Amino acid sequence: MPSSTMPTDHVPASPESVFTYGAPQLKFGPGASDEIGYDLSQTGARRVLVVTDPGVAATGHPQRVADQMERFGIEAVVYDRARVEPTDESLQEAVAWAREHGPWDAFVAVGGGSSIDTAKAVDLLTSNPGELMDYVNAPVGGGRAPVNPLAPLVAVPTTTGTGAESTTICVLDVLSLKVKTGISHARLRPALAVVDPALTRSQPAGVTAASGMDILCHALESYTARPYTTYERKQPEQRVPYCGANPIADMWAEKAMSLLAGSFRQAVRHGEDEAARADMAMAATFAGMGFGNAGVHIPHANAYPVAGRVKDFHPKDYPADEPMVPHGMSVALTAPEAFRFTFDADPERHLRAARLLDPAAEQTDDPREFLPAVLTALMRDIDIPAGLGAVGYDEGDVPDLVEGAMKQQRLLATAPRDVTADDVAGILRRSMQLW
Ligand SMILES: [Fe+2]
Repeated sequence: MPSSTMPTDHVPASPESVFTYGAPQLKFGPGASDEIGYDLSQTGARRVLVVTDPGVAATGHPQRVADQMERFGIEAVVYDRARVEPTDESLQEAVAWAREHGPWDAFVAVGGGSSIDTAKAVDLLTSNPGELMDYVNAPVGGGRAPVNPLAPLVAVPTTTGTGAESTTICVLDVLSLKVKTGISHARLRPALAVVDPALTRSQPAGVTAASGMDILCHALESYTARPYTTYERKQPEQRVPYCGANPIADMWAEKAMSLLAGSFRQAVRHGEDEAARADMAMAATFAGMGFGNAGVHIPHANAYPVAGRVKDFHPKDYPADEPMVPHGMSVALTAPEAFRFTFDADPERHLRAARLLDPAAEQTDDPREFLPAVLTALMRDIDIPAGLGAVGYDEGDVPDLVEGAMKQQRLLATAPRDVTADDVAGILRRSMQLW
């Protein structure tokens, strides 16, 4: 093996010896979302804001959650204007509304990652001084840390996958700068995640496929992330929630991959199979507990521009009014190539992941091809497009996409090898047509 591909990119002078693990409290299972009123009554909350988006509001789940809180003497108000893909403007609008109609003792987010992230921003800025941009990651924002604890946030995901119920980050588009960035701080992590597989029963096949690929990549990227020991030793105040691959995150990622092996194809093909749905919900939760501590890397960095610079692709089973590459799909499209690139950093880990994801798959002659082969076979079976070309990109878009991906340094720094702009360009080019 040439030395340039050995996992020697990171040799710290003083290796990190400490890793951290954080997670919300968890309630899991069909019917779990019927108990939120009781759960919040135990915290002494009297006035609660339920944050959701118009699409999820139309399912009736948020109002049902609000209604059962009233039985416990809690006044619950529904804010249903969270934007799918939050922007600085949509978050500022939600914060202004919440400040005007507050104070609130607790927050409940019912919806996908967007509703949960909106609730995180609202919670932060109704508990702490300053404005949104003060807290957005530097250099885009001020990178300020909250001085006050946040009110309890209960996160109730209605799409499987995002992991927003487990993580410490709020993702947003800053419109004036055309950049996707985030606010990241341990205090943003929800106090309680309520995962109720009954809420995902109506999810169509295309959404299950894309969001399932998001779950899979959360597990696989955290499992192959830079080990925490390859970072320089940090002072406690320098520690960030994402600390690289570590034994605890590995355990969640491995279990998530095993659950996916048994349920993913079935949940896409037979959405009525409740056992498969429950396993997917559990896989999403487990993967969230892993990547919420280890971090994700190249496929997620690429996903930002792949989703953000969409031309006119309209995926099956998503609202037809706006072109979009769904998050999970945008992550999946460069994953086979990304894991071909990271293979040398830890071959055994890549092979083990492939075996966990498909215990029946025959190992390829070239071990480097095993994980990409398992991924593309799955993607074909669940009807993910055959590459970046199939969602509207061509060679001419590569420089633009590279520029967008290279802005995600926080994610690229979690990759197990150093990643240059040329490396990303190669991954994108070879992802135009995957089969
Ligand atoms: Fe994701």
